[in-house]
Amino acid sequence: MAKTPKAATQKPVKVHEVVKYPEPVLAKRGEEVTVFDASLKKLINEMFESMYIAQGIGLAAPQINISKRITVIDVSFKKNPKDKIVLINPEIVDRTGKQLEEEGCLSLPDIREKVSRAEWVKVKAQDENGTFFEIEGTELLGRCIQHEIDHLDGILFIDRLSRLKRELVLRKIKKLQKNGEW
Ligand code: NI
Repeated sequence: MAKTPKAATQKPVKVHEVVKYPEPVLAKRGEEVTVFDASLKKLINEMFESMYIAQGIGLAAPQINISKRITVIDVSFKKNPKDKIVLINPEIVDRTGKQLEEEGCLSLPDIREKVSRAEWVKVKAQDENGTFFEIEGTELLGRCIQHEIDHLDGILFIDRLSRLKRELVLRKIKKLQKNGEW
């Protein structure tokens, strides 16, 4: 059976292109969000849509060329509505333990490496209305939170690798660029 077509009046959500390394915006600290208005809510909606279309479980605003401290996360990829998280001006206020797992990034397609992260983090952030809240995360969520907050500070996961591993990854990217595959 075909899906019911959407009502004609419903505007399609704008999908933003995800920029790749070495786009300069990815190395910049994003600006604090100070205005919590309808256009912010619209942007957040677009960020979720852009993330899902790119098959991601986390997306930071700098990855769509918007240098602001906003990130969206959904580690269960639409399976559990409770996993849809918006972090605005987030700050890690506590962390413990260590985990070493493979990570990927929409801005570094096909690159996957093990990255050392805290096992548990506690984050203070604002929601889309500007209200402060705290959230804790372990395992995949904890890792995703740390990965996305890094984006807001201009840090990519490859910046957290050993110098040798990072060099190897950069060499691989250069080769792909040369072949027009990046
Ligand atoms: Ni990323």
